[in-house]
Amino acid sequence: MHFLITAGGTREYIDPVRFITNASSGRMGYALTRAAQKTGHRVTLISASDLQPPVGVEFVGVDSAAEMFGAVKKHFPRCDCLIMAAAVADYTPFRSAKNKIKKQGKLLTIKLKHTVDILKWAGRHKKKNQVVVGFALEDKNLRANAEKKLKEKNLDMIIANTPAAIGADKSTVQIKTPDSPWTKIENATKAASAKRIIRLVEKLRR
Ligand code: CTP
Repeated sequence: MHFLITAGGTREYIDPVRFITNASSGRMGYALTRAAQKTGHRVTLISASDLQPPVGVEFVGVDSAAEMFGAVKKHFPRCDCLIMAAAVADYTPFRSAKNKIKKQGKLLTIKLKHTVDILKWAGRHKKKNQVVVGFALEDKNLRANAEKKLKEKNLDMIIANTPAAIGADKSTVQIKTPDSPWTKIENATKAASAKRIIRLVEKLRR
């Protein structure tokens, strides 16, 4: 199979030297990339992370949510499975200043606008044989909120976790497909969870 995997937290530039981002390390997306490669799959990795690209991967480096969307739109038609492991910013500065913003007054307000929901776009545009997998980061009502995303974004699989997973070596993830009950992978390394996830995707394609 040809996997398209996204990783890392996007950077939304306020001016040429400052950006808004989040605490995502990109390690889950990279673990998924390695797990897919180990099983003999081809991977295109679209990454906003500073981690070194795994050997043998087709690597596309991006900064912002808009750039990630452009790269996903370009590569999605040729993939069998998209896994959106990236922590994509939901908002980006309304306008990015051309020059470095100077100190001024006591309060600074930055106007933000919505970014495109890349996963939702993929759920809407997928072909019959394409698998689209999303993540859900939830600090409460994890299963209910994740199931809502599974349906609303027309996904084939959702992987839910909590903020405790960010940057951690081990984490607990819960997985659901439209036709199967919840599966819980408890306190596992990202490599072990990634291996299980790739196996579940392979099963979905069969
Ligand atoms: N995602 C995306 N494009 C965005 C925002 C999120 O593709 N602009 C994807 C993420 O890569 C992840 C999934 O959507 O796979 C869920 O992200 P999450 O932040 O948990 O949820 P949101 O849909 O953004 O909703 P909320 O922040 O309100 O929980």
